[in-house]
Amino acid sequence: MVYFFRKTLGASLLVVLKPSASLGLPSTDLPGDSMQKYGFAPFNSSIPGSAPMVQSSMPDSNSRTCFPAMGFSMPASIPQDNTRWWCAMEDEYAFLGFSYEITACQNIKQLHKEFHDIRNNFHSRYVRLYGFCDRDGFYDDIIQAAWDNSLGVHALIWFGFDGSNKWKTRRSALFTTLHTNPKAKFVTRGVQFGSEPLFDNVLSAKDLAKQVRAARANLSSLNIPVTVSEMAYGYQNDPGVPRNALKASDAWPIIQRDMSWFAAHGNGKKMLFDENGWPSTTSPGVQPNSPNAVADVQNEQDYYALLNDHCTDLKRMAGGGIGWFAHIYSDDQEPGYGIFDSSGRLKFPFKPRTFC
Ligand SMILES: *[C@@H]1O[C@H](CO)[C@@H](O)[C@H](O)[C@H]1NC(C)=O
Ligand SMILES: *[C@@H]1O[C@H](CO)[C@@H](O)[C@H](O)[C@H]1NC(C)=O
Repeated sequence: MVYFFRKTLGASLLVVLKPSASLGLPSTDLPGDSMQKYGFAPFNSSIPGSAPMVQSSMPDSNSRTCFPAMGFSMPASIPQDNTRWWCAMEDEYAFLGFSYEITACQNIKQLHKEFHDIRNNFHSRYVRLYGFCDRDGFYDDIIQAAWDNSLGVHALIWFGFDGSNKWKTRRSALFTTLHTNPKAKFVTRGVQFGSEPLFDNVLSAKDLAKQVRAARANLSSLNIPVTVSEMAYGYQNDPGVPRNALKASDAWPIIQRDMSWFAAHGNGKKMLFDENGWPSTTSPGVQPNSPNAVADVQNEQDYYALLNDHCTDLKRMAGGGIGWFAHIYSDDQEPGYGIFDSSGRLKFPFKPRTFC
């Protein structure tokens, strides 16, 4: 969703709504030829594989009974299957965690340290991967670091912007790991096609829908759903009204507009904001749509404060409400968007709500 700042090369813009898919269910409601119309694959609330809904004032994800609830203790051995493993989708709203770029191919030690920080200091339930690392065994390291820190993972098939077919090798490598690593299906909450395959014109809507179906079939025995990470703009394929806000604190009407568009076209599907933030600085690759938009730490902080303040509005959306990721963990990963600067200092206090 291109609101305020865009990177060059058609890379992601600020807020990207993440449409999500059902947990590997065969569905009559797949995105078909008209991906633009449908928007995304279904992610209905009746997910086999979710823990039963618990009606209480504390969401289940905060009450230790399911993965990746805060306080959940990982079992000593790998469970038999993941059918009663995950927290209910209804609980997956408010702050979910960080978008985390892996293009540096972090070693296992760094993954451990940062996943520990993400989980324990920010009460994240998930990391959402961004970028790519083609090192053999890298996703096994992600799985181990996630398991050891009780953190779920939204994996990503990275398309990149160079029009190459490398995404196919990445997809196959990921799927092979998902099938062979016994812990994979206990930490991998979903696989995303992204980011912005439609906006970047990597595949036609029809071909993307076909790939989503194939991936879903491949992963169905693992109960891992397949999703698409895309902007409303990418689906609309229509320049429409410019979406500009000059200050983060004024951004709510624009967020609402795209959120409503997704709701109107999403057929009751769950949505996540998976690539979502406001940069503290511009750079050659991060330029505002509107020349007067302000990029500073205050606006970066204000943007997340805005989402936090609208917790109950976001919760009213389909499937138990919208969960959001902060994009991104560190300025080392994407200049200006980090919660940490490149010397590892927190840029502002960051304690968003995980339920409301
Ligand atoms: C999803 O839920 C909506 C509303 O309950 C329903 O109309 C639709 O058929 C469901 N889709 C799938 C794929 O189950
Ligand atoms: C899933 O994809 C992997 C990687 O391409 C492939 O090796 C495997 O045979 C596929 N499995 C199924 C069940 O389609």
